[in-house]
Amino acid sequence: MGLIEINHLKCTQCGLCAIACPVGIVVVGERFPETVEKIEKRCITCGHCVAACPTAALSHCRMAPEECMDLASDWRPPVEKMEQLVKGRRSIRRYRPDQVDRSIIEKLLDIVRYAPTGMNVQQVQWQVYLDPAELEQLTSITVDWLYTLLAQGAPGIKGMLKAWERGEDPILRNAPHLIIAHGKANDPAANYSSIIALTTLELAALSFGLGTCWAGFLFQAANKYEELYDALNLPPGHIMYGGLVLGYPEFEYARIPTRKTVNATWR
Ligand SMILES: Cc1cc2nc3c(=O)[nH]c(=O)nc-3n(C[C@H](O)[C@H](O)[C@H](O)COP(=O)(O)O)c2cc1C
Ligand code: SF4
Ligand code: SF4
Repeated sequence: MGLIEINHLKCTQCGLCAIACPVGIVVVGERFPETVEKIEKRCITCGHCVAACPTAALSHCRMAPEECMDLASDWRPPVEKMEQLVKGRRSIRRYRPDQVDRSIIEKLLDIVRYAPTGMNVQQVQWQVYLDPAELEQLTSITVDWLYTLLAQGAPGIKGMLKAWERGEDPILRNAPHLIIAHGKANDPAANYSSIIALTTLELAALSFGLGTCWAGFLFQAANKYEELYDALNLPPGHIMYGGLVLGYPEFEYARIPTRKTVNATWR
């Protein structure tokens, strides 16, 4: 088959596939949709042509309509639900020790595959920690890094180190899991993609009763402290682009805290 194939019995010639293609590859031909052959190689396999077709008449050479999940007619959450979800999310710093089933984390990552990526390159890779002993080791190395910063006179670290000395985990919050997004160091878009994927994961985790918190100090140490970078043991040429700790929250919040008002310029 070519880039796309049209089932003439199903096609109603509505033209939606053509207007959905972000690259302009699919156009309305004399009767049925066709492609502009000389720009076919610019196809980003976004699947918009397949997904837009109301009658499943269009097959892409890398994506048949039968492979694509149906979209429920009521898939958009009502505004009140979405508002509660986005505003109700909190950075969780107290976790129950219970492990999260690997199948749940797999489902989460499966959902997050759909976070947008520039040019649809889908380059985000994950490193998932299931063993709390490994998290303890990563916290300990990050704390070593903080002590080196303290020795250099860096401000704002003493409190965290005091917490560590009291037996607390100010880095990974004694969470049972850590999920790291990583990618090639020389990929200029991997940073964006990873942050978007992690942000999507943070929201998706709420539906599973899970909580998350950004592992900001671990992230800084990963790219500045060789001992931690080595301990992460990422594939050659990869760097960490961000990470979240994950687990079941120890308690539920009762209300949504206030935030600054919107700061927007309207033109
Ligand atoms: C950082 C970033 C930059 C993007 N820039 C553009 C853009 O300039 N123009 C555009 O049409 N789409 C842009 N996109 C959308 C992607 O092409 C799109 O997310 C991808 O093709 C997957 O399609 P989907 O979002 O419908 O799943 C961008 C996405 C991201 C994450
Ligand atoms: S997959 Fe996306 S870019 Fe490729 S032809 Fe279809 S709509 Fe156009
Ligand atoms: S969207 Fe489907 S039905 Fe409409 S023109 Fe394209 S292939 Fe035909």
